[in-house]
Amino acid sequence: MILDRLPRDGQRPQYHYLPPRHWMNDPNGLIHWRGEYHFFYQHHPYGAYWANMHWGHAVSKDLVHWQDLPIALYPTPDSADQDGVYSGYAFNHNGTPTILYTGVRSHAQLPCLATGDDTLRTVTKYEGNPVIPAPPAGLDLLGFRDHSVWQEGEWWYQVIGSGIRGVGGATLLYRSRNIVDWEYVGLHCVGSSLETGTMWECPDFFPLGDKYVLVLSPIPLGKAIYFVGRYANHVFTPEKQWTVDNGNSVYAPLSFVDENGRRILFSWLREGRSGEAQIKAGWSGVASLPRLLTLGEDGFVHQEPVPELQTLRGKQKTWEDVELAVGGENLLASTSSSTFELLAEFDAHVNCIIQLKVRCSPDGDEETIISYNGDYGELSVRCAESSLDPAQHRELQRGMLPLAADEPLRLHVFVDNSVIEIFANGRTVLTTRVYPTRADSMGAWLGVVSQWGNGRCHLKRLDVWELAGIW
Ligand code: FRU
Repeated sequence: MILDRLPRDGQRPQYHYLPPRHWMNDPNGLIHWRGEYHFFYQHHPYGAYWANMHWGHAVSKDLVHWQDLPIALYPTPDSADQDGVYSGYAFNHNGTPTILYTGVRSHAQLPCLATGDDTLRTVTKYEGNPVIPAPPAGLDLLGFRDHSVWQEGEWWYQVIGSGIRGVGGATLLYRSRNIVDWEYVGLHCVGSSLETGTMWECPDFFPLGDKYVLVLSPIPLGKAIYFVGRYANHVFTPEKQWTVDNGNSVYAPLSFVDENGRRILFSWLREGRSGEAQIKAGWSGVASLPRLLTLGEDGFVHQEPVPELQTLRGKQKTWEDVELAVGGENLLASTSSSTFELLAEFDAHVNCIIQLKVRCSPDGDEETIISYNGDYGELSVRCAESSLDPAQHRELQRGMLPLAADEPLRLHVFVDNSVIEIFANGRTVLTTRVYPTRADSMGAWLGVVSQWGNGRCHLKRLDVWELAGIW
């Protein structure tokens, strides 16, 4: 059964994928199969709260417009997944679209297998589930779930998310020749609890450029991180570490390689409003925009929105070569929108903070302030005044973005009702959620502010597009 989509409400994103109604969390089993992008996701089909995990399913030809499909995986009574079909991974196993997921039965969380038909419209569980009967013996583990799978010659490998009590998060490496019989190879990577959490959810391990990347969602950090490093002799050695997204919304990111060889990442964007408000709205959770990943020259993972999103662009306004001064006029005075894209490039900026305010009410009662402080190399989003509703989060969010002396600031911002997704110079990403209460919180403001009164900034170019919805 496919549910009807909820009608538009002022908070519901219009061009980010989300289920027709009810709850979603992690993206699962992302795969480009026979020319179609498949998006599976953790789904509670009976309410806008986390419970009773199923795999929801949607498909797209262009990564932009999605068609809802019937639920792909249900818990099966009296089986290894009777209490939940948790997160997992999709891969091409000798021409068959194949899924490894975590089946939950009481306290046991164990790897289970399923295969799709050639169109990936139906998914059938393997009868011998679970395919690994218990976590490896001799380790005091804090969890055993979520999978990342790859092939090396005749071997299939997977890492499973875990943590070693008193030590830190860990990924456990397994291998198999036939994807049914798995042998434990050893610890693939181990962190330190104080630095990177006690248990690593949703590991995603893949090559990027001439390095390897391990993306993790560590408990209790509540924020996705990644390592860039070396992989040899079945052990991954991190060399660099950073957060996937500097906002408080992104969790459980998952990537895949499409048929054009691009590494694309989706995340779950968590809500920043009360559980009650989510249930009342009838929906919770939304997918991030698809992000193209590359390894930057600085050795970090760079993220850009996929170019396909440009097909949503409607009415455009452009400005070129504008000197911004403290106290100057608001360039965006005529903007009235809660679903738009903005791309701005700033040259030299001295003694000032560049500010972009979005979702502003005319009287300033509600506004969300995106700032770039060049002296500190800091990008931030102030949500304290985003909503008159006291139940929405108010946390100031910030990320580092140090720029080289002659490097322009490039801000690429997507506003989609309650979602704000900011890509800065392709390397600092900050996503958050805001819930303005007023129907007229549609304004925007762009300019510079300064403590010293004399700051200036050269805006090389600014484009603002109205974006079409995808439904
Ligand atoms: C991460 C997570 C995963 C688990 C799934 C359950 O958000 O907790 O570890 O597989 O969600 O919904």
